[in-house]
Amino acid sequence: MEANKHQEHILVVGGGSGMGLAVANRLLEWGATVTIAGRSSERLTLARERLGADTPRLHTVVADVTREDDIERLFASTGDLHHIVWTAADVGGVYVPLDDMDISTARRVVDSKVIAPVMLAKHGAPRLIPGGSITLTSGIAAYRPAPKGSVVAAINGALESLVYALAVELAPLRVNAVSPGWVDTPIWESVAGAGKTAALEAMAKRLLVQRIGQPDDIAQAIEAVMRNTFMTGTVVHVDGGQRLV
Ligand SMILES: NC(=O)c1ccc[n+]([C@@H]2O[C@H](COP(=O)([O-])OP(=O)(O)OC[C@H]3O[C@@H](n4cnc5c(N)ncnc54)[C@H](OP(=O)(O)O)[C@@H]3O)[C@@H](O)[C@H]2O)c1
Repeated sequence: MEANKHQEHILVVGGGSGMGLAVANRLLEWGATVTIAGRSSERLTLARERLGADTPRLHTVVADVTREDDIERLFASTGDLHHIVWTAADVGGVYVPLDDMDISTARRVVDSKVIAPVMLAKHGAPRLIPGGSITLTSGIAAYRPAPKGSVVAAINGALESLVYALAVELAPLRVNAVSPGWVDTPIWESVAGAGKTAALEAMAKRLLVQRIGQPDDIAQAIEAVMRNTFMTGTVVHVDGGQRLV
């Protein structure tokens, strides 16, 4: 049975920007209580302003989810949850040729999107009420790796395999992933810098839908996956057809 929307509490890790912010916006509009988490308190304050500064149903928690003690503190502050959504990733500095690869940077990126979700599942699953779910965010790089994108391809592929394994281990809790194509979010500032607009425009011309994704395209899919009680161990692709071009 669907939870009373005014009692539903959903954690969005990475909810301070991009797709996570769009998810938080949808869930708040629906009537849920939402906690958004990220490392930067400034980013979370800006998110709070965009989502409605005075809503008592929005909570923010500063946490670096690559740190297990931060994850424990995060779940201690949320208490029981209906669903967990994860859109966090720290991919800055890793799009480089292998010759120039700084391995400590590569480890930081793997930490942010492979080890951190393992810790999220470890500490988050016990917080989920029966009927709860975890929805993670993987990405097109697992299917269409770009030159200089080896680590990003690896983390997205690993995350999807993690989803299958968690769905089996945590059942009857549900675990899924949404895999975005290229979406216009702040992540592109760290990936392409000043080249962001040109890169996104060039991709838009190639895509079957002839446009780049917007954060709410992904948020819509995450919400659908979260709510569909027959869906688990699944990766949903929302990529404008990018796997086919
Ligand atoms: N945008 C795309 O084109 C695209 C394509 C394919 C896949 N994806 C994937 O989609 C997901 C969402 O990306 P997005 O585009 O929405 O990116 P985004 O706007 O940069 O959002 C990522 C969020 O994660 C948070 N975060 C990063 N590292 C963290 C950490 N260690 N602890 C806590 N929070 C952390 C960031 O906040 P703080 O910096 O404040 O911590 C930020 O709010 C990511 O997994 C990304 O890899 C994106």
